[in-house]
Amino acid sequence: MDGVPVHRNQLILGIESSCDETAAAVVDGAMEVRSSVVASQHDLHAEYGGVVPEIASRAHLERILPVVRKALSEADVSVGQLAAVAAGVRPGLIGSLLVGASAAKGLAFGAMLPFYAVDHVAAHLFAGLLRPTGAGEPPAGADRFPALGLVVSGGHTSLFHLETSGRCELIGRTIDDAVGEAFDKAAVMLGLGHPGGPNLERCARGGDPGAMAFPLPRLASPLDFSLSGLKTKLLYEIRGVPRGRGAAASFERDHLALTEGRRRDLAASFQRAAIAQVLDRLDAARARFETRCLFVGGGVVANESLRAALHGWASRNGCGLVLPEAAFCVDNAAMIAGHAQIRRAAGERGDPLSVPTEPVSLLARGAHPRRVH
Ligand code: KG4
Ligand code: ZN
Repeated sequence: MDGVPVHRNQLILGIESSCDETAAAVVDGAMEVRSSVVASQHDLHAEYGGVVPEIASRAHLERILPVVRKALSEADVSVGQLAAVAAGVRPGLIGSLLVGASAAKGLAFGAMLPFYAVDHVAAHLFAGLLRPTGAGEPPAGADRFPALGLVVSGGHTSLFHLETSGRCELIGRTIDDAVGEAFDKAAVMLGLGHPGGPNLERCARGGDPGAMAFPLPRLASPLDFSLSGLKTKLLYEIRGVPRGRGAAASFERDHLALTEGRRRDLAASFQRAAIAQVLDRLDAARARFETRCLFVGGGVVANESLRAALHGWASRNGCGLVLPEAAFCVDNAAMIAGHAQIRRAAGERGDPLSVPTEPVSLLARGAHPRRVH
């Protein structure tokens, strides 16, 4: 493709530590994943109902070297055989990002290898170009650009117009919660616990998606998203309309009053409403921008109903769909190494080791169009 690397033996080690996953992976120049190791910290944060930044940074420190060693050994390579080292440097929790970025910079410096500072959102966007181990030679790609890009994760909900894999314009984003964050909060309201997205998807199986109607939010920009209305409507349905406001609000009942059937129906209805909003924004973007292909990524794309809906959307609109395997939708390091491969194939030589870690994605800043790195 359009920027997909071809030199198989050019191996890049990627490191990801932006939130609560410590990950390392080796990806070759044909975008084949030679190894991908992810150490999750879900158990450490579960009792707090969310990620505690200080606990996350300390856990990354303990895990980073064993995880990198495992990724190298599963790919059967040594640091000296690598072509480059890459790390996610933004966006994310600063303490967490620093652990992975510093490890990657140290390895690159010690072995005198190029270092690629990767934007996590851009890495999600192109994760669908990764190929499973042993996939053979990549097919000759048809021209996929201009394209639309969609990232739906716990921290991001962004819509892009892509001129090429390296030029990308932010055209829509959430004005409140990210889609994954809304799934997580809806799961808490339904009493489903952590991790919210997968639990809600499981609960929705067998539920009636038409049991509760959620209106599509109409915003100033038809390309922007809003999830907070869905969340509030669900909360009132489960617990009744509150008396009082904020922390002093008291509800008529709690989620324990739900029957199992009603819980399933509400989960299925919420899931359907979130997916309907995604499809509505894609329709609006498709009406404005020439679209040969849709690139999607981010944890929520692991959701089977959303995947089926995206396949349907692409075939109705006669465009290609680049969709990652579920393991490469949620946070992982193969997407970091993969994005570095795309940039290397486009002729980029890497970034200085002085590149800082930052809490916000360059892509979220909305200058038009931005280079993706
Ligand atoms: O991409 P990711 O691992 O981290 C961020 O960059 O945010 O996304 C995590 C998000 C969480 O909100 C999680 O609930 C959601 O992706 N998620 C899902 C599913 N699997 C993960 N949401 C809906 N259905 C799923 N199967
Ligand atoms: Zn992510």
